[in-house]
Amino acid sequence: MSPNNKTPGVIESLQTEVENFPAPPHFVETAQFGPEIYQQATQNPEEFWAEQARALHWHKPFTQTLDWSNAPFASWFGDGEINLSYNCLDRHVLAGNGDRVAIHWEGEPGDTRTITYHQLLGEVKKAANLLTSLGVTRGDRVAIYLPMIPEAVIAMLAVARIGAIHSVVFGGFSAESLRARIDDAQAKIIITADGGWRKGRVSPLKPAVDEALALATETPLSVEHVLVVQRGENDIAWEEGRDLWWHEEIAQVDDQHTAQGFPAENPLFILYTSGTTGKPKGILHTSGGYLTQASFTHRAVFDLRPETDVYWSTADIGWVTGHSYVVYGPLSNGATQVMYEGTPETPTWSRWWEIVERYGVTIFYTAPTAIRSFMKQGREVALKHDLSTIRLLGTVGEPINPEAWLWYREVIGAGTAPIVDTWWQTETGAIMISPLPGVTATKPGSAQVPIPGISIDVVDDNADHVGRGNGGLLTVTKPWPSMLRGIWGDPERFIATYWRTFGDKYFAGDGARLDADGDIWLMGRVDDVMNVSGHRLSTTEIESSLVSHPSVAEAAVVGAQDEVTGQAVVAFVILKKNQTLIGDSDQASAILTAHVGNHIGAIARPRQVFVVGELPKTRSGKIIRRLLKDVAEGREVGDTSTLADTNIMQLITEKLR
Ligand code: WTA
Repeated sequence: MSPNNKTPGVIESLQTEVENFPAPPHFVETAQFGPEIYQQATQNPEEFWAEQARALHWHKPFTQTLDWSNAPFASWFGDGEINLSYNCLDRHVLAGNGDRVAIHWEGEPGDTRTITYHQLLGEVKKAANLLTSLGVTRGDRVAIYLPMIPEAVIAMLAVARIGAIHSVVFGGFSAESLRARIDDAQAKIIITADGGWRKGRVSPLKPAVDEALALATETPLSVEHVLVVQRGENDIAWEEGRDLWWHEEIAQVDDQHTAQGFPAENPLFILYTSGTTGKPKGILHTSGGYLTQASFTHRAVFDLRPETDVYWSTADIGWVTGHSYVVYGPLSNGATQVMYEGTPETPTWSRWWEIVERYGVTIFYTAPTAIRSFMKQGREVALKHDLSTIRLLGTVGEPINPEAWLWYREVIGAGTAPIVDTWWQTETGAIMISPLPGVTATKPGSAQVPIPGISIDVVDDNADHVGRGNGGLLTVTKPWPSMLRGIWGDPERFIATYWRTFGDKYFAGDGARLDADGDIWLMGRVDDVMNVSGHRLSTTEIESSLVSHPSVAEAAVVGAQDEVTGQAVVAFVILKKNQTLIGDSDQASAILTAHVGNHIGAIARPRQVFVVGELPKTRSGKIIRRLLKDVAEGREVGDTSTLADTNIMQLITEKLR
């Protein structure tokens, strides 16, 4: 049956026979990577990766591939020297592609900028000189807190160009979260903007930076300068000497800069991600191996043709997808891409599809939560626009339900575009599991197979392979080039989090199931990490935030299923006796939601806050979140036999009813 005749929602159960969509013939015939690549990679994975690495420019070629003698701290291409900014810019210009558009940028108010590789290189050279003039040298940390404007890309590549380390903090994080990240990395410079456009308004960034830097924390302030890009034109305070306008400083520096090679294991970036404790983890990535896998996967998984494709990833640079598939992957491959500042519904839900039409987007990469939001608007919104240039679709960030997958293919992909459902993590640096569009027959809802050169296993608690038809825990069984090299400043936590569960296997924290064909279905997190709109949030971090409110005695947070965002934050709180700040439980929700928003950032705001008298606990005092999840999802409450007080769940459910 042709997919065009299908109504979305036909797949009732994942356990039964699943329809698949063979790779379209034109992909099979023309794809740069055919089935033989798997064989080649399996025979000698290290040599396979070395070959991919050689596609990059090395200032000094490597002779060693992998050194795993200090496991789990890997070294890839260790004696080679490379410059990532050179690979993303100079080499394309030198190859005669300087006039190719690197970025079609569109601001939310509708202003646009077109930037060629030649121009981007010029800007990055100046920015590199500017950072150097401010005393930034190899190994120094630069925090970046910017909206989705070209300067975000320029700043990242300038930092990489001089061998320094960037730590991009998502613009939606609060002053407090920003300060925690600045302190942890001891950032010397912070690059921000006055504000950026979101939902038709300027969202202030510099004021949040001012607030962050003014906070009294245990750590003395490491920041020497704040570089401010002019974007929002909102009123901001100014501290002479510390604060510098980007445009004024850039105008004064030399526009020549020669990129030097740095060791392949030179750190490239730190990116903070939520873990199971209240403290975010600074995931550390280095240079040569990271770029090898980001670049290869961007070519192979998206079947990229840099001469003709117009690629668009809707990810923000504040997340790892923005690092690997807005900056390093596409630019290292000389791709032309779209970058958009704002939100999909501004000024109307047509915005994304107008952009696709305007620039002739051919490859489109987004998150399931966005697809589900568009499903809610109805297909007409998208179908009003000419989307016929789209030839390949991708998703990332959370499991995609088959209904959304089929809608995406049918409505956005005209029933013909293959979908690559890509599984990976901040920690893995680049795509690990995904179909290849010229090889794999895709299945709605399954990320399917490890990419060539990657070894994945689904195991039980004893680290034994579960076998087809069974579920278990997802592990990576061999080191890979773009793997994290550690947690910034906390090697013990790195080992404990990822390497203690299964010894020599990397434990991803995700559950997975193997179907009868051996294809992998991701089943969500198995730890106390939630996935809201494709963003990772820690239950513990939000609980600590709630408890930091003077009226809250205790809090428990769960990720409850949500139609649009995948999971949503639902909180259960016990208020202190005689507290006066929060009146009744009706007010609690608004007050505590805002509190978490200010404390961590808008993305962490609970969907619901329930005031309860007690929380379900075991005899040893551990909160049983599983039961609260049942309540939050409106289900019959499960087994309560381990509760210290078995009546509690009844009291909670009755109260909420
Ligand atoms: C989830 C995002 C199912 C998973 C690149 C993982 C996915 C976490 C998929 C990492 C997918 C990501 N199918 N689940 N295709 N992609 N995830 O670090 O739980 O923000 O562990 O990296 O998102 O989120 P992170």
